[in-house]
Amino acid sequence: AGHHSMNDRINGQMTSMKRILVLISGSGSNLQAILDGCAGGKIAGQVVGVISNKADAYGLVRAREAGVATAILAQQQFASREEYDAALLALMADYQPDLVVLAGFMRILSADLVRHFAGRMINIHPSLLPKYQGLHTHQRAIEAGDDEHGASVHFVTEELDGGPVILQARVPIFEGDSADEVAARVQVQEHSIYPLVVQWFCEGRLQMREGSAFLDGKQLGLAGYASE
Ligand code: GAR
Repeated sequence: AGHHSMNDRINGQMTSMKRILVLISGSGSNLQAILDGCAGGKIAGQVVGVISNKADAYGLVRAREAGVATAILAQQQFASREEYDAALLALMADYQPDLVVLAGFMRILSADLVRHFAGRMINIHPSLLPKYQGLHTHQRAIEAGDDEHGASVHFVTEELDGGPVILQARVPIFEGDSADEVAARVQVQEHSIYPLVVQWFCEGRLQMREGSAFLDGKQLGLAGYASE
């Protein structure tokens, strides 16, 4: 309630902190960056829940330490993707999220679930989309001889890793780099671009319309927001 009334006063109108729901499968370092952004006042929102498909995801520990409600939905309990996703959708809806943030959630979501959250669900992918959709992106970039790589934040659509890009960050690939070295370099950038995009959304600056991303009413290009 404290947040609410303060926010109302600042904006001089009825607004409220956006409700952010984060889905994870692993370490949750991007979740941590978003939790830190909220705690530090850089994101006008609050993480109201964290859902993991893995019981041992370290991100669950991070969530609990931040006082955020957690839930585990293990795939083993379900016979099919449809059944899992129906249960997941019901669980997600319980949190009444304004924004769903996929942060290393390593499952493909069914079309029904994606449609339900259209324009309200974002993902971070470790490549400069549209390059290297899918898995093992760092290794594939190295093997292709690329001298740069990066991460993309995008709206989630029914096309896997194919939704409109909002913001990308680039990193160099140096001769002799291992996939782990490149991944670590990419992650540093992820931790700055993901909270920034979450903040844009919470401020009401970001929309998806007709398959494109818009920031402040301006349609973004294929590489998302770019300042040249
Ligand atoms: C991140 O690097 C993210 O880009 C990647 O998983 C990592 C999760 O790290 N996502 C994907 O590969 C999605 N296909 P985190 O759990 O420490 O945030």
